[in-house]
Amino acid sequence: MLEIAKITELAHYLVGLVVEQGNVVIDATAGNGQDTFFLAKKVGPTGRVYSFDIQKAAIDKTYNYLKQQNLGKQVILLRESHDHLTYFVREQVNAVMYNLGYLPGGDHSVTTKFNTTLESLKQALQLLAPGGIISIVMYPGHREGAEEKSMIIPFCKNLDPVQYVSLNSCLLNRRHNSPELTVIQKRIS
Ligand SMILES: C[S@@+](CC[C@H](N)C(=O)[O-])C[C@H]1O[C@@H](n2cnc3c(N)ncnc32)[C@H](O)[C@@H]1O
Repeated sequence: MLEIAKITELAHYLVGLVVEQGNVVIDATAGNGQDTFFLAKKVGPTGRVYSFDIQKAAIDKTYNYLKQQNLGKQVILLRESHDHLTYFVREQVNAVMYNLGYLPGGDHSVTTKFNTTLESLKQALQLLAPGGIISIVMYPGHREGAEEKSMIIPFCKNLDPVQYVSLNSCLLNRRHNSPELTVIQKRIS
């Protein structure tokens, strides 16, 4: 059963409605590998997941997790910043997932930052296929997360409504600044 309070599960639910076997997708923040694992299962052996993270610890964790699950074949792991998406990905993608912030249990000083996140989002839009989806889980409870939110919300509000639709979900009866999910879909026509 879907637990809406777990905002990352809500992201999986929505992305899972769009992504199909054989699709090409991106995990822009590999972290512990949960989103890459989810995407690798969804696209299956005929699909491809490009998975980015700047930290060796995150790439190693994701690699080991995928190996355990026997899902490594369809994943290209890149120890690179996600503001270089279009340099490494030269094909249209059906989904791009962001789980912003720092690696849980890792170095909290290595966190996503609004300027690279913004550049990455612009490139993700260039790569997105019609009907494709971008999900962004953000954590405005810490300083860099608050900066990202104050950039992401206006960025999404200003997207051309003929080309894109965007929605934002926040937990209304939780503490101020709890995690939020923003989704962008490229319209089909
Ligand atoms: C909240 S964690 C991601 C969790 C992950 N999606 C999962 O399912 O386990 C955020 C990750 O973003 C990574 N990160 C920070 N800046 C980045 C950048 N510019 N490009 C790619 N990854 C970055 C961090 O190293 C960290 O591992």
